[in-house]
Amino acid sequence: MLDSVELRKKYLEFFKSKGHAVIPSASLIPENDPTVLFTTAGMQPLVPYLLGQKHPAGKRLTDVQKCIRTGDIDDVGDDTHCTFFEMLGNWSLGDYFKNESIAWSYEFLTSVLGILAEKLAVTVFEGDADCPRDEFSAKRWREMGISPDRIFYLPKANNWWIAGQTGPCGEDTEIFIVDESKPGNSPADDGGRFVEIWNNVFMHFYKHPDGSLTELKQKNVDTGMGLERTLAMLNGYKSVYETDVLKPVADYLRSLTEVKDAAAERAVRIITDHTRTATFILGDPRGVSPSNVDRGYILRRLIRRAVRYARLLGLGADVLTVCADKYIGIYGDFYTELKDNRERIMTELDAETQKFDKTLQQGLKEFEKLLGYIKDNRISGKAAFRLYDTYGFPPEMTVELSAEHGVSVDMEGFERAFNEHQLKSKAGAEQKFKGGLADSGEQTTRLHTATHLLMEALRRELKDPTIMQKGSNITPERLRLDFNFPRPLTAEEIAAVENAVNAVIAAKVDVTCEEMTPEAAHAAGAVGVFGDRYGEIVKVYTIGDYSKEICGGPHAANTSELGKFRIVKEQSSSAGVRRIKAVLE
Ligand code: ALA
Repeated sequence: MLDSVELRKKYLEFFKSKGHAVIPSASLIPENDPTVLFTTAGMQPLVPYLLGQKHPAGKRLTDVQKCIRTGDIDDVGDDTHCTFFEMLGNWSLGDYFKNESIAWSYEFLTSVLGILAEKLAVTVFEGDADCPRDEFSAKRWREMGISPDRIFYLPKANNWWIAGQTGPCGEDTEIFIVDESKPGNSPADDGGRFVEIWNNVFMHFYKHPDGSLTELKQKNVDTGMGLERTLAMLNGYKSVYETDVLKPVADYLRSLTEVKDAAAERAVRIITDHTRTATFILGDPRGVSPSNVDRGYILRRLIRRAVRYARLLGLGADVLTVCADKYIGIYGDFYTELKDNRERIMTELDAETQKFDKTLQQGLKEFEKLLGYIKDNRISGKAAFRLYDTYGFPPEMTVELSAEHGVSVDMEGFERAFNEHQLKSKAGAEQKFKGGLADSGEQTTRLHTATHLLMEALRRELKDPTIMQKGSNITPERLRLDFNFPRPLTAEEIAAVENAVNAVIAAKVDVTCEEMTPEAAHAAGAVGVFGDRYGEIVKVYTIGDYSKEICGGPHAANTSELGKFRIVKEQSSSAGVRRIKAVLE
């Protein structure tokens, strides 16, 4: 039996012996790529280097990369699909190409992992107007000992790889383990006979937005091997849920409930999968909290879906935190960030779980009622919006629930209801915003500047750069600030934040304002909302070297105008959000 710890180690050591530098897994949240929500492949953090920038560790790299692919979420529950997985990868940045790449993949699989050559099959690119048939790779595989009837030529749909729509890409050769007991004639069929474990991409093109391809400056190799699938294959497990990274959690859930049919086993797998992904998102160094937008929304959906499946199995929602705790144990030595961020993982997961668990049962009742009086077997957009707005049902969940009852959902109607609601609240927000500006008396102006200092002091003193403003309200008497943070502040922390703000006030620092594009503001390190509300040009207020924030203003000219800052109240605002009221004396 080979477990995850050994497989990671063997892989990295093998490529190290072939001159590769071992680099750490990058964050799940891409740093400089606004086009994707999560890192979906090992190559993603390496794009600049695939395009020709010099990588500090050299031209041959290897790593184990944490990946999230939520496009496969509906397949979770089968034997092989997960929303989170680990990708073992090796890269040539303009160094070796097909010859070595294929030879080393073969050597690793047969000599290191001991897989018999007879169990392998490969695919290569059949060629088209863009790129010739990959006879080189086919010949190389034959030289290695792969029988010609196990080498399949397939079109772009199968043997061409690109992350998204544009960027580095090229023909690939994919490696499969053949399960003789299953039907199928070719890896292009879906009979289960050919299980893909590794993909070697020969990245030498760049695809432009108009669809055209140009040759890259350098010829690269980008490979990716799925850790869970490979483990399952090597050990003869039927599914990835039997591997050492998932089994303890799946078994824990199985021990709590009678898994009497395939539907129950699917529910167990969904909870197992979703809690792992949630644990890794919350535990990432650039981790996000559950919210209604972007990454936070994906996280929220995963957690809420897991809560629903836990309830379906008759389990308490608190099994989610037990699962997370198990994952921290399973992965914490390799992904130490999970241990470091343990408190955040547990608190945020618990808060989101509890919050949804409270409304889930009522929402389900409401849903049952709806089923009684729907027309044309279709849930209206307004009803779906009500489930979302009142009971926190992500629309995808409503669609899933409805499908279970043979009913569809008017998603266009949902979008309309959603947009109408947004418009209403936006109008409200703008009025409030105007109201705030109209009341630009001296004290509110000072409190406004103090709010910026408070935001920055919270980030610094609580050592959590993900803290963002969730709401602000200023009257001439006090400021009120809502921000994401999973627990109450201690008295020491409150004092530290007050002291930090008062230190900047005492330093008599100038407050300056510049106008720039949101991109420039982002590049300058300004925090704040980069949304459309601010238009093309934004104002960035800088307070010495302490704070830089996008904001409409107005502000005090110098912090010496502020007086003494004091926090008068710290309390909960909503799940995962704290509220501070403070005054200037
Ligand atoms: N980037 C390639 C993949 O994800 C290796 O399959």
